[in-house]
Amino acid sequence: MLAAATALVFAASLAAAADVGVWTPAGSSGVVCIHTALLPNSRLICNERPHQNMYPANANTGGLVSAEIDLLNGADVNGFGSWTAKFTPREVATDPLCAGHSLLANGSWFQAGGDPYGANNGQNPPDGRKSRRIYNPCPVGAAADCVGSWTTLPDMTTQRWYPTVATLADGSVIIIGGTTDAINFGQLADINNPTYEYWPSKAGDPRHLDILSWAFPNMLYPMVFVMPSEHVFLFVSNKTVIIDPKTDNLIYTVPDMPVMDHAPWIYPHIPTMTVLPMTIKNNFKFTLQICGGSRQTTIDASPMCWQISPEDASPQWTRIDDMPRGRLMIDSVIMPDGKILYLNGGSWGVAGGDPGEAGSAGGPIMAPDLFDPEAPSGSQWSTLASASNYRMYHSGALLLETGHIVTFGSDINNQDDAVNKKADCMPQVQQFNAGCQDPFNTNIERFAPPYLQRAERNGRPVISKAPDTTTHNSTFIVELSTAASNVARVTFIRQASTTHQTNTDQRFIELNILGRSDKALLVQAPDLAGRAPPGRWFLFVLDKDGVPSVSKTVFLQLGAATQVPAGTNGITSSKNAAKAASSFSGISSLITAFAAAVSAFAF
Ligand SMILES: *[C@@H]1O[C@H](CO)[C@@H](O)[C@H](O)[C@H]1NC(C)=O
Ligand SMILES: *[C@@H]1O[C@H](CO)[C@@H](O)[C@H](O)[C@H]1NC(C)=O
Ligand SMILES: *[C@@H]1O[C@H](CO)[C@@H](O)[C@H](O)[C@H]1NC(C)=O
Repeated sequence: MLAAATALVFAASLAAAADVGVWTPAGSSGVVCIHTALLPNSRLICNERPHQNMYPANANTGGLVSAEIDLLNGADVNGFGSWTAKFTPREVATDPLCAGHSLLANGSWFQAGGDPYGANNGQNPPDGRKSRRIYNPCPVGAAADCVGSWTTLPDMTTQRWYPTVATLADGSVIIIGGTTDAINFGQLADINNPTYEYWPSKAGDPRHLDILSWAFPNMLYPMVFVMPSEHVFLFVSNKTVIIDPKTDNLIYTVPDMPVMDHAPWIYPHIPTMTVLPMTIKNNFKFTLQICGGSRQTTIDASPMCWQISPEDASPQWTRIDDMPRGRLMIDSVIMPDGKILYLNGGSWGVAGGDPGEAGSAGGPIMAPDLFDPEAPSGSQWSTLASASNYRMYHSGALLLETGHIVTFGSDINNQDDAVNKKADCMPQVQQFNAGCQDPFNTNIERFAPPYLQRAERNGRPVISKAPDTTTHNSTFIVELSTAASNVARVTFIRQASTTHQTNTDQRFIELNILGRSDKALLVQAPDLAGRAPPGRWFLFVLDKDGVPSVSKTVFLQLGAATQVPAGTNGITSSKNAAKAASSFSGISSLITAFAAAVSAFAF
């Protein structure tokens, strides 16, 4: 009785305080998660930089540079309670540091390129600059002791260090740019690789791209996104070219970005570019947003954010509200409710790991800033609770099935070195200082956004069944063990991989709800493969309070659309659906879209 009363008081005091999210330590990744992908069953696969010179091989992994991480490791599927990640070292044949990557249609992780550090070191994998490799994860629902493995594909035509890779509408992959050697911004040498190619390879690979020659040296990790038209958006520094991957024609319809007081909008000044959520309310408009990076006149981070809708008839760059602070080496994570968390990074300096550059960025920013794309100008940003760990160069963040966000990584060139004046601690400096601490950050930190605080207090919607696969524009049933009438939105987010603040995988598409019964929803998959590239997607349902379910993983595959037969799960008529809709107290445009969708659907 006493315990219950205490719990009640505690819950009431929690509810009274504004929710700003909760950070919790989540265990060790074994390696520094510089390159990170989400795998099925709340796992990550991470690659680190081979340890060099005075740093002995990674003792966690016996020198291996890759590890698969089981984040939940037996914890409750909601993710509530504590986590202690468990890592399993994995062997990768060539050095993957500074590869580009994306998740394939079948959910495997494709990588192109790397570096030669391992070879230099003698104890780590050989030169990976021409390599292509795939990590095949265990299937969804595999036994707890299952781990995935790396396989090697045939080499590329050329060496690529810092390329960008994106999965295209047809499930193939485009590999763009990179250098043939380490770039030294102070002493530029001709090491550009101003070309792109495909995987599977196509006749004519590699293909020259003038824009990459023009932008050198501001062309590392170019920003690359497939668009609803299936064309590929490519941005470097302040210029855009659009590639039609069916013809390799180049299209120049996007104007140059206004530069103002901003250094080139690319590595090593390191802003981040994100596909904004495509929603019923914005009629699934394709818009990109770029935020952060450094200023031109000082080394301080910029707070600016700009948007472009590149498939408009005459696209224009639009400046939106500044972030609450300048931030560089910034990551973005699109959340199940369509808000975007901007986090990690610092307030001054540049990225990079050239000899002598370590410590050249600092002022770590521990608090995430939350961007609400639907908020009116002037109130688009708010600030949430601060993390305990800084995440500077070689760090990242990803969304999980549970709705949590994890942050990971950080090595060299970081605040720990800078603040503690550990000038001899950089991996590439020859002298070993016995006082040096390990600069390799292998801790993982978990963020429960405010919606999970509400979920812990009030519960969350529960998906009991959804299809493992679907095809574009198909309709399918989502069964719930909570009331369907309480569902306000169904959202689809592509599972992602990230490195160097580059994530070509993540994108968010709201699904149309076509009908409901007591415990089921009839929804429609995204319409176009350019809008929604094939792959592994999170399916979330959200209640009227914006609290998401744990997601169900759905493979969105290429193929003809299929329709759920009338009558399935008691969703028998538009009358039923309309009844559910009238009890829904949400946005009127949703109801309008709903009505349109219902009339298009033959019950
Ligand atoms: C996924 O697809 C790639 C490319 O076709 C292939 O190499 C890989 O083996 C596939 N993975 C699995 C687990 O089937
Ligand atoms: C645009 O980018 C190029 C290449 O990085 C750079 O030389 C130029 O200064 C930038 N333009 C402006 C106005 O800053
Ligand atoms: C998707 O399905 C809707 C009907 O639900 C139809 O109106 C639309 O044309 C389809 N889109 C595509 C790209 O096939």
